[in-house]
Amino acid sequence: MKVIICDSAEAMSKTAANIFADRIRSKPNLVLGLATGSTPLGMYAELVRLHREEDLDFSKVRTFNLDEYVGLPPDHEQSYRHFMNRHLFDHLNIDPANTHVPDGLARDLDGCCAAYEAAIQAAGGIDLQVLGIGTNGHIAFNEPGSPFDSRTRVVDLTESTIQDNSRFFKRIEDVPTRALSMGIGTIMEAREIVLLATKDNKAEAIARTLEGPVTEAVPASILQRHPNVTFVLDQAAASRLKRSQ
Ligand code: GLP
Repeated sequence: MKVIICDSAEAMSKTAANIFADRIRSKPNLVLGLATGSTPLGMYAELVRLHREEDLDFSKVRTFNLDEYVGLPPDHEQSYRHFMNRHLFDHLNIDPANTHVPDGLARDLDGCCAAYEAAIQAAGGIDLQVLGIGTNGHIAFNEPGSPFDSRTRVVDLTESTIQDNSRFFKRIEDVPTRALSMGIGTIMEAREIVLLATKDNKAEAIARTLEGPVTEAVPASILQRHPNVTFVLDQAAASRLKRSQ
């Protein structure tokens, strides 16, 4: 487990983007696991800059997103498919057919989840996965109590996550209550993981993740057992870590 504490959110974004750029240059058909949320936005902007100004090539890269809200169409402003197109895919030379986000409108949601797992396997598994973290320690939409061996499935969102994400919707009643999410078992199979966190509202979750017991009550704590994980944090997110003092 590696922990990098950066002076600012901008430095965190650049540090993380450089890890991604390095891996893409070494393996042009890299399989990326991608996340939504506000935290990776700076890293995505830096990857777009590296593509435009330094020829970082995404033509062979394949991507799988962690999750999607159930019930939101792909063109809905708050759907994760829309988020990814707007902030990343539309600005790269990536083949849209190589970008995968679970289909929140699928009639057969369970079948869609099984097909998503099969597509990840068919691509050879995820080489590099980026994660954010919820204030309750969730990763993707694996809420506290999610089994460590869980796979892509339909999940119910907790009140705290609905509350956290309501800032993106007009009214809290508009926040979907269910999502399709890669499982913790799925995420742990990624060959390399980079978890990003900024701001002091994540400090408690980061301290519990890195320095607390490995427990399903804190889903991200399982990352302590991953053989190749890097936490890239700003000072605020790292502020409750004892070992950083
Ligand atoms: C959502 C996503 C997570 C993300 C989390 C944190 O719940 N499903 O993947 O890590 O939000 O979002 P933010 O980065 O905006 O704090």
